[in-house]
Amino acid sequence: MAQTITVSLGERSYPIHIGENLLHLIPEMLQKSGIRGSIGVITDTHVAELYLQQTISFLKEAAFPCVTHILPAGEESKQLSRIEEICGTFLEGRLDRASAVVALGGGVVGDIAGFAAACFMRGIPFIQVPTTIVAQVDSSVGGKTAVNHALGKNTIGCFHQPCGVVIDMTVLKTLPPRELRAGCAEIIKHGVILDAGLFNYMEKEAASVLACDLKALFYPVARSCEIKSAVVAEDEKEHGIRALLNFGHTFGHALETVSNYSTFLHGEAVALGMCAAAELGRLLGTASPEFCCRLRACCQAYGLPVVWSELPVREALQAMKKDKKARAGTLKFIVPCDFGTVEQRTDITEELAGKALESLLRES
Ligand code: NAD
Ligand code: GLY
Repeated sequence: MAQTITVSLGERSYPIHIGENLLHLIPEMLQKSGIRGSIGVITDTHVAELYLQQTISFLKEAAFPCVTHILPAGEESKQLSRIEEICGTFLEGRLDRASAVVALGGGVVGDIAGFAAACFMRGIPFIQVPTTIVAQVDSSVGGKTAVNHALGKNTIGCFHQPCGVVIDMTVLKTLPPRELRAGCAEIIKHGVILDAGLFNYMEKEAASVLACDLKALFYPVARSCEIKSAVVAEDEKEHGIRALLNFGHTFGHALETVSNYSTFLHGEAVALGMCAAAELGRLLGTASPEFCCRLRACCQAYGLPVVWSELPVREALQAMKKDKKARAGTLKFIVPCDFGTVEQRTDITEELAGKALESLLRES
């Protein structure tokens, strides 16, 4: 149960190592990337308690001097002021252009650490060590880094590819069940957009995946990384096919924004967003009612929300218009056709998007 996948980006290609007990690979990956300087390890309060000492021991054994920066756990940390604080830690620790960053944590840590690495000294290398399912199957691959603004999610950031990703599946054993379930939404998303077989697997294996059986989780994690790597290799900066990965996210990000990032985990908002996008497909006639039922049932099997009775529809529509995926006032949506097939639409009226959102208000 081990696999290495390459994200093919010419000179900036990088490996993703997936397996169990892999944290020892961190210094090796830094050495192979030609890093000789000090390392800035960024993590959060929860992950620090569990995996920071082990990570630092591996780095010290390989003679890498390190400084650490521990963020408060949670989405609230994804703000610009944290970047300034991290740069302060790096400057006090005398990191320089020969240094590198290790992002040890979930998607929040990965997004902030990647952005800090992109900004510090005009850009230093970093490696991703994702510790949640969301981060292992999605955020650690592809080089999107960002922090949030009160007016919109992920609105301040840049593309900065890591020089490698170490996916140690063993760390998932300490993940709270709610976080595990939320991560499954991103795997289901990959199945819907590009791989019906992956969707079928998730439907069938819900019990063992939810029990965090690493053998059952290996295939969907590795397959998601393959799918994401192929998409990023073809369209790094999201001028085309990469936009498909935003399935469920135009709605989902709006739900996160209007709930002040406090009601739903990211993956939960994506589950609701996928259900709204499925309803949009049904209204447009691209997706069948059976498709909508199966997707909803799969999300429910993973304990993901499919209804939000307090959803402020009008506010969510306003938030969608400010989303960075909306260009010149045109909303962009990824709508499903069938499992494994989606399409991008830019002809969706506010009225239709509103109807899709309204379908989340109650069980259908
Ligand atoms: P997260 O980083 O907040 O982690 C979730 C929680 O789990 C946190 O409390 C964290 O401390 C804890 N945790 C992490 N690993 C753990 C472990 N192994 N054991 C115990 N606890 C652990 O959230 P997330 O769901 O990983 O990521 C969500 C973020 O990722 C959002 O901000 C989202 O926008 C971003 N994201 C980015 C991309 C991208 O392409 N850059 C893609 C998807 C999501
Ligand atoms: N999470 C969507 C992307 O990386 O493009």
